[in-house]
Amino acid sequence: TSQEVENEREFNYVEGSGKGPEDWGHIHEEWRLCKNGEMQSPIDLTHERVQVVSRLGRLKRGYKPSNATLKNRGHDIMLKWVDDAGSINVNGTEYKLKQLHWHSPSEHTINGSSYDLEVHMVHESSDNKFAVVGIMYTIGRPDTFLSELMGQIKSLADRHDMEIAAGVVDPRHLKMGSRKYYRYLGSLTTPPCTEGVIWTIVRKVRTVSREQVRLLRLAVEDNAERNARPTQAVNEHDEREWNY
Ligand code: MLT
Ligand code: ZN
Repeated sequence: TSQEVENEREFNYVEGSGKGPEDWGHIHEEWRLCKNGEMQSPIDLTHERVQVVSRLGRLKRGYKPSNATLKNRGHDIMLKWVDDAGSINVNGTEYKLKQLHWHSPSEHTINGSSYDLEVHMVHESSDNKFAVVGIMYTIGRPDTFLSELMGQIKSLADRHDMEIAAGVVDPRHLKMGSRKYYRYLGSLTTPPCTEGVIWTIVRKVRTVSREQVRLLRLAVEDNAERNARPTQAVNEHDEREWNY
C-alpha cells in the first residue's frame, strides 16, 4: 500500500546504528509519528487501557484461499496475497486481508513478558485504515502454517527485496484458537508508524519450533538478532478507549 515503506533498508532494529527504533522518527519527516505519536504500538497488553474481549467470532472472518507471494523485505519475511483473500469486519467496517509477516521476538508483551514469535495479519479498509490481527507463539511443536512455507522461506534467505510465488495460500489454515482477544487502538510498528490501527491480539499463545524461528531470523538482513520494536509508552490521556 502507499503507506508502506519502499526501501526497507532505511531502518533496522539495531540500537546505536542511527537507523534503529529510537531514530526512526528522525530519518524522514513523514516518519515523525514514530517519535512523537500518541498511540504507538506495540505495548504491554496487560495495560488497563487494553480491553479483553470474548468472542473472536465477532470479527466476522471471511477468509478464502488465494494466490500469494513471499517477499524478503530485509527487516522481515512477508506473505502477500495477490488476489482477494477475504476480509474481516470490525465494528461494521470491512478490512481486506492484504499480507502477513513475522516478528521475533514478539512485539507485544503480556505482563512484561515477550514471546518467541508474533505474526501480524494486516488488513486494510477501502479508506486506507488498518486492522491488524496478531498471534503469539512460544517454542514447542512446529506451527503447521509455517511448515508448509519453510522451503520457500529458505530460498529467500539473505535475498533482500526478492519476491517469489507462494502458490495458493489459505489464511484459514492459520490457527487462532481461543475466542478471547486483546483489543486496543495503536499504530503500525514499522515506519511510518501510522496511527489509528485497530489491534486485535489473540489471547491464546500457540507454538512454533525453534528451527522455524531460527529460519525466519536467518532469512532477514544481517541475520537480525531481532525484528521487534520495543514496547511504547501509553499516553494516559489518549483515545484508546474503544466502544464495542
Ligand atoms: C506492523 O505490523 O505494524 C507492520 O510491521 C507494518 C508492516 O507491515 O510494515
Ligand atoms: Zn508487524
